[in-house]
Amino acid sequence: MRTIRELKDNIYYIGSNDRRLALFENMFPLENGVSYNSYFIDDEKTAVLDTVDRFVSDAFFENVKALLNGRSLDYLIVHHMEPDHGANIGRLIEMFPEMKVVCSLKANQMIEQFFGEELGDRAIIIKEGDTLELGVHSLKFLAAPMVHWPEVMFSYEEKTGILFSADAFGSFGALDGTIFNDETIVDEKWYAEARRYYSNIVGKYGTQTQAILKKASALDINMIAPLHGLIWRTNICDFVSKYNLWSKYQPEVKGVLVAYASMYGNTESAANALALSLADKGVHDIRVRDVSVTDTSELISLAFKYSHIVIASPTYNLGLHPKMEHFVVDMKALNLQNRTVAIIENGTWSPAVVKTVTEILSTMKNITIMNEKVLIKSSLREQQQIETLANAIVADINK
Ligand code: FEO
Repeated sequence: MRTIRELKDNIYYIGSNDRRLALFENMFPLENGVSYNSYFIDDEKTAVLDTVDRFVSDAFFENVKALLNGRSLDYLIVHHMEPDHGANIGRLIEMFPEMKVVCSLKANQMIEQFFGEELGDRAIIIKEGDTLELGVHSLKFLAAPMVHWPEVMFSYEEKTGILFSADAFGSFGALDGTIFNDETIVDEKWYAEARRYYSNIVGKYGTQTQAILKKASALDINMIAPLHGLIWRTNICDFVSKYNLWSKYQPEVKGVLVAYASMYGNTESAANALALSLADKGVHDIRVRDVSVTDTSELISLAFKYSHIVIASPTYNLGLHPKMEHFVVDMKALNLQNRTVAIIENGTWSPAVVKTVTEILSTMKNITIMNEKVLIKSSLREQQQIETLANAIVADINK
């Protein structure tokens, strides 16, 4: 059964969804599945733009066969080599001996690494600014290194104005037949999954994302076709403006993420008390999350969204609670910047939360640690500490 939709002028979506996969990259929970987008251009020359993950290969090959309708495949365009898109490159190379593989030099090396295939003169090595003529369509290539691997290229189809953007502008979530953004509801729930995808997968490479956004801004883009999630053909600026904020590590909103770890409920009580005090003082965009039951990818997404982050943790093995340590270390790994952080430390003996968090955060860019700290010995006894911190956060948000 073919699963094909036309984007425009004989350019087709030939991707698939996986709603069974529990963890993307065997790491990130998928509540609503994931889509692997692939595209086909039917012109004087035929071209497949990226393949799909191995778990959804059958539909992909049926789609390619249906669109070829007995013709041969002339080109495979490889924008990105990560196996969620490149898994079927080896099979296509075998199936179509005349097919040329159009890819960056680094992707060519990776094809050999993944598939043991030396492409030789079957490879057309492309670089920034190169063009591939297919007939009425032509693809102009833009280098997008580290968005999200070093070999990544974008391509811009000059007749239709479609930007094929690899992982950029991707999102978690399977597509429900409605592959275009104007066919479904794009609300905060949708953006939450797009942000969770961006911040955790590409988030470390904000500088590189900024560079490609700048290059792309010179193009007349009518549609953005990423390798995951919705294809954007209206209100493109809305999504681009989110990407601009995320890749500059600027918060989307002035608000507070209160992330707490708690073994017996005492640190949790302090976190809740702070949230209530903040709300009482007029801050209403607050998210309180228990790091032991919230996936780190969700915490990271919220850290990219909010301007202020509260870290509330008991001392554990003379450091942080391990779940909190994972979150804080991941923020650093993903290069989060430009945030104000408050600390609630708990320690029955030898408290070490302030020291440990400060050591990690001080190696990050533009992270301000608030002077007002809540220091708890076992359980919160001085409500005034909470009020003082809440007042300081409110003042900082309103300044
Ligand atoms: Fe969707 Fe970097 O692969």
